[in-house]
Amino acid sequence: MAAPIRRIGVLTSGGDAPGLNAVIRAVVRSAEVDLGWAVFGIEHGFEGLIGRPRIRPLDSSAVSGLLPQGGTILGSTNKGHFSAMRVDGEWVRDPAPYKELAANTKRLGIDALVVIGGEGSQGIAAELARYGVRAVGVPKTIDNDLWGCDQTFGFDTALTVATEALDRLHTTAASHDRVMVLEVMGRDAGWIALHSGLGGGADVILIPEIPFTIEAVASAVTTREFRGSNFSIVVCAEGAVERGGGQLYQEATGTLGGVGAYVAGQVGKVTGKDARVVVLGHLQRGGQPTPFDRILATRFGAAAVRVLAEGQYGVVVVSRGLEIGTIPMQECAGKVRTVPLDYEMIRTARGIGIGFGDEEDEALLTPEPLA
Ligand code: F6P
Repeated sequence: MAAPIRRIGVLTSGGDAPGLNAVIRAVVRSAEVDLGWAVFGIEHGFEGLIGRPRIRPLDSSAVSGLLPQGGTILGSTNKGHFSAMRVDGEWVRDPAPYKELAANTKRLGIDALVVIGGEGSQGIAAELARYGVRAVGVPKTIDNDLWGCDQTFGFDTALTVATEALDRLHTTAASHDRVMVLEVMGRDAGWIALHSGLGGGADVILIPEIPFTIEAVASAVTTREFRGSNFSIVVCAEGAVERGGGQLYQEATGTLGGVGAYVAGQVGKVTGKDARVVVLGHLQRGGQPTPFDRILATRFGAAAVRVLAEGQYGVVVVSRGLEIGTIPMQECAGKVRTVPLDYEMIRTARGIGIGFGDEEDEALLTPEPLA
């Protein structure tokens, strides 16, 4: 039988998301109040357990006031020693940091880890099981694209920020008869663009799942013009791709992005309209979580501790409808939940005249004389 749990570690790994601190708070309070366990915060993700360990005890007073706080009090590391590397077409991991982490965890008397992270971090946690480290995962990504999880915390906050940005762009676009392109996050999946596009009344939504053409986007703009609206709003996921093309990267930083500027430039040229771009970037990830995200984060943190108390490891807690369930870590590691092409929200958007920059719009948006 596995040794009983008395001390657990909690860490945040990968890019931050509003609600991380709310998860940490829930983990600490559930473990301490409910079970009498000691909790240690591990700093800067898995990195905090290699070299000289950077850990600190966390009790209820240490997490007081954390619920509405953005960021993570523990810090995070995006690409560290634990990432898989591609060698000759194969994904490989250096075993040395894994062994070191396992040894340190044992030496510190940490019986299990709560790993708050995205699919990459859950892959690391799954691999750690091979070195005898017990872990439970809490999914984290503002992109809402974790496999097997209906909604991740941070998404609602990002969506709120993006929707407010679209509201603000409407008034300035209308005042100047402009095309305004808003580039939002969404590396592989267009959840933020799709939901904010519907919530913020965009005219065109561009997502990685539906390759676009400049002609179709321009056609949406000119059709609106023909029907009497002299401005248009386009929301574009940073990972959106032109048909036959690939994702764009910024020259200055080498990071994903730039598709918004490309769309604005090209659509401006084709339509002759003044077109501008706004890149929302990390504003979507910073600051206070919405009430929805605070609640979801709290439920995830509490569920992770419950799962450990039941003696389960190697699973990730996930939201499924109104419930919180679990899936094996291996199942969500390295996998992305993209927007299904037959998703009702896409149909609804098309049904109310929102374009996706594809053939369906090209067919739909041919201007017809008004009666
Ligand atoms: O969390 C995922 C994400 O928000 C992506 O949409 C985006 O490309 C990425 O993080 C940016 O990460 P970083 O802060 O490391 O540039």
